[in-house]
Amino acid sequence: MNSTIKNMTEHVSVREFKDQAITADQKQSLLAAAQSGSTSEFVQAFSIIEITDQKLRNELADITISSPHVKKADTFYVFVADLNRQASILKAHNQSLDSLKNMESLIVSVVDTTIAAQNMAVAAESMDLGICYIGSLRNNIKRVAELLNLPKFTVPVFGMTVGIPATKNQHKPRLPQANQVATNTYDNQKFTDLKAYDQDVHEYYANRKTNASDTNWSEKNLTIFKQIRRPEVASFLKEQGFTLA
Ligand SMILES: Cc1cc2nc3c(=O)[nH]c(=O)nc-3n(C[C@H](O)[C@H](O)[C@H](O)COP(=O)(O)O)c2cc1C
Repeated sequence: MNSTIKNMTEHVSVREFKDQAITADQKQSLLAAAQSGSTSEFVQAFSIIEITDQKLRNELADITISSPHVKKADTFYVFVADLNRQASILKAHNQSLDSLKNMESLIVSVVDTTIAAQNMAVAAESMDLGICYIGSLRNNIKRVAELLNLPKFTVPVFGMTVGIPATKNQHKPRLPQANQVATNTYDNQKFTDLKAYDQDVHEYYANRKTNASDTNWSEKNLTIFKQIRRPEVASFLKEQGFTLA
């Protein structure tokens, strides 16, 4: 296993950072890595907004509810799926914006954004920095868009905190490959036989140093998905110009 893969397999989200700044060079490297990912048909359909204003940072952190570390992390970026540049090119040529509105274009921009963010995450961890994705910005996605002055055809997908780790959780065990990797066809029986993995995850939560609890992976997923989450995201996407069709 080379050092890149070792770093990737040791990933943990970091939620406690030292009160110490990352350097301008490190930030430049993070942004260059984010910009260098693959991008569907070279459309580069994302933007990254660094939040340096502490008042704005606090407002965004309050939206997350679950992620007060957004206030304190050295650096906080918001990753925006962004087809606004394409809208402006089309408008300048008196072309219809219809092609930007459909699910395919929305997926393209969300995927491009996610690839950029994960490139940044891998780059950060290669420099011994810690990161945490902040999807809970979508608790009030409309307000986030207002706060950042986002135009139509943009979506704030998630944030990412970056800083020097003060503490780190133990690595969370991932699904056994038997539950997630198949050859030639989807293996429903193997992929849903989660007993062994539930046992692993139960052990992880029972023995971890902070926030130990009596749960497993299936129970966690039941709690998450037994209710409909953030239904207002769909109406926000429509306001931003997407038809969801
Ligand atoms: C898109 C996305 C959104 C996330 N949102 C949050 C968040 O709002 N707050 C938080 O503390 N962690 C967040 N996380 C981190 C996950 O909880 C974490 O990756 C997962 O529990 C696995 O733990 P690990 O990253 O330490 O391996 C998010 C992760 C992803 C990929």
